[in-house]
Formats: sequence, structure tokens, C-alpha cells
Amino acid sequence: MKPEIDPSGLMRWIIELSEITEVPPPAVTRVLFSKEDHAARNYVRQIAEALDLEWRVDACGNQFARWTGSNAALPAVATGSHIDAIPNAGAYDGVVGVLGSFEAIRALKAAGHQPIRSIEIITFTAEEPTRFGIGCLGSRLMSGNLSSEHAAALKDTGGKSLADWLTEQPWGGLLDSVRLEIGHYAAFIELHIEQGPLLEREGLDIGIVEKIAGPATLIARWTGNGGHAGAVLMPERCDALCAAAEMIVAVETAAKKTRSADTVATVGLCEVHPGAINSIPCDVRMGIDVRDTDIEARTQCIENIESAAHEIAERRNVELKLETLHAEPPAICDDQLVLLALESAQELGFTMRKMISRAYHDTLFMAELCPTTMLFIPCRNGWSHRPDEFSSPEQIERGTAVLANLLARAST
Ligand code: HGY
Ligand code: MN
Ligand code: MN
Repeated sequence: MKPEIDPSGLMRWIIELSEITEVPPPAVTRVLFSKEDHAARNYVRQIAEALDLEWRVDACGNQFARWTGSNAALPAVATGSHIDAIPNAGAYDGVVGVLGSFEAIRALKAAGHQPIRSIEIITFTAEEPTRFGIGCLGSRLMSGNLSSEHAAALKDTGGKSLADWLTEQPWGGLLDSVRLEIGHYAAFIELHIEQGPLLEREGLDIGIVEKIAGPATLIARWTGNGGHAGAVLMPERCDALCAAAEMIVAVETAAKKTRSADTVATVGLCEVHPGAINSIPCDVRMGIDVRDTDIEARTQCIENIESAAHEIAERRNVELKLETLHAEPPAICDDQLVLLALESAQELGFTMRKMISRAYHDTLFMAELCPTTMLFIPCRNGWSHRPDEFSSPEQIERGTAVLANLLARAST
């Protein structure tokens, strides 16, 4: 099926949504439960209502827009992504998959498609880890990867729990009700920018994802004895930030030393207390992100990080608390769905390749519920999680056309 995508209408949605941000555009910041998050949620709801889709919101804020098929009893085909954004991010991460899904449905309706299986667009809550330090909160709860008890007890950096936050949200319900059973969906397909350079470098239109790297997050707390920056001589110091600084380089070394070229490790979060220029740091909280598609290599990297951390703490007489916040296996996408996606792109005459996703996505957890794959489009220089993140209207149009074609096939 070759539904007519309206790139200008889709780009208008994308630009309007990008203007709902805590910081001046082109940067986008939209953190879970912020007023920008709520405004973005409402923006999406208006599009769903204009397309006459059935709307529901679950107890953790996942939003569902359903085009009911002629056989409503069949498990639906799902698609979608996220609209939350880390601080100073770009306009396309997640958004292309949500708004592209609505445009795909608009085009299919205009083309007279009548789905047998329902098609459902999911806008997942908190794909980004910003608020609670753990990403994919909505899809983790849907898939059972995270229990509702564990989720309710998650606390943000201000010490406020998810349970407390939820009492202030416009939706209701028990977190247990978010959980979906295997078989609830027939398939899940997520359209997303690649967040990497391969498609652009190889001049290809579409990436079909076969595997998603497994993410792990460690939190390290370094506690020294602080003190006056002028009065404490160097030999008497137990400087928490100097220990953390050694650790940052040790994390980089640990990733480079594994057997896999795909191992990545990053210290993207480092909070220093008391944070005064004339006070020796006494407390440092550090977030360590480790990923690979090769689980042994990732495990090796984490073990290297743990032994380096304890050696540094011992030698510098700094107290260390190191905990693994989460560690997920890689997700394997479904061969049949990958094939269907390849055919859907071929039929439209686009160039494509199979590939892995180094970023994680809600698809990582939806893969615990049903067959999945992802459709990638190129993004400029592979840049993402930065204000100059960019995919062209033509690239977005091609990805949306393949999604529409795939949804038409999968819902027939
Ligand atoms: O971090 C990730 O891979 C995703 O963008 N949240
Ligand atoms: Mn992201
Ligand atoms: Mn994303």
C-alpha cells in the first residue's frame, strides 16, 4: 500500500510540539510531570481526537489512541514512542515515532484502509531516565519488567516518590493495572531517528532493527571528609571529587578494554556537594551508563568498573557506595516482522539495511510482550540528545510511509 504522507502537516506538528519546552527552542526539555510534559500530552491528545481515535490513559500516564479494527477482538498492532525529552535535547527523538504514527493513520484513513486488527498508538510515559534515574518507566510497567511496588517507591533527586507524584496527576488508577499480558498486542513497531551515523554515512533511507543493546545503570556515591579549601593540607585530604575524577577515566578504560567494539560506558551525571569553590568536595553522586549487545562484554565492563572503584576508594580513603540501578539483556527483534518491514520499505522503493540499535527504546521492553522491530531514519551526523538533532522532512516522510505500509499489512 502506498498511502500519501503529508510531510508539511507532519512537520507542522513536530515544530509545534518542539515549541512546548522548558528552555528556548531549538533546545527541547520536557521532563516527566513538568508543565511542559502535560502540555505535550494534551497536544498529542488533540491530534488523536481530530483523527477520531479511541483515547485512554493508564495509571502511570501511558497514552493510547486506538483505531478499532473490524475484528476488535483480535490483538491490536501497536506503534508509537515517547515525547519526553532530557534537558537540552532535540526536537525529533521519540517525537518522530509518535507524530509519525498519527500521520501514518491519517494517511491510511485517507487511502480508505480498513484495518481488521485494531491499530493502537502508544505514547509512553518517561522513556527518558531524567526524573527517576531509570528510563522506559511506562513500558517497564506494561511489560512487568518493573513491579508496581518498586516503581511506586522510586524517588527523584528531591526525594519525592513516583507514588506521591501520581497523586497529583490528572489520570488515576492502580499501578498494577498498567501491566499487560503477553498476547495483548500482535506486534509493536517503533519509528525512531537512528541516533547514530550509519544510515547517513551509507546513504540509506531506512534501518530495520534486529537487536537493541542492553542498558545498565550504576550509581556511585563517594564520601570524603570535606573541609576548608585553604586550611586542609594536601596529605590530610580525602577528596571525594578527586576519587570520582579517577573513576570517570576508569569507566572509559573499562569500556575500551572489553572484547566488543560495541561496549559503551559513560559518566553523564556527577553531582558535587557542597559545590562551593572554597570547600573540599565531601560527597559526589555519579551515574554510570553501560551498554552492549554482547552481554558477556557488558558484564566484563561492569566488573572492571566495580574493581577499579573499590581500589580507588581504598587508596584514597574515601567511602564508596556502588549499586546497580538496573541491567537489562539486549532485545532480539522478531524475524518475521523484520522481514515484513524490509518488504514494506522495498515496495516503496527505498534503500535500507538491517542494523542494531545502540540506544535503548520502549521497544526493548515491548519485546517482552510481543514481536517487535524498529524503523530507523537517518539523523544529521548521527547527533541526538542535543539541540541541533535533525532529520529532514524527506527522511521523516520516508520513515512514516514505511510505517504506514507496514501497519496496513500487519492490520489486514
Ligand atoms: O538513553 C537512551 O538510549 C534513550 O535515548 N533514552
Ligand atoms: Mn532519548
Ligand atoms: Mn528516544
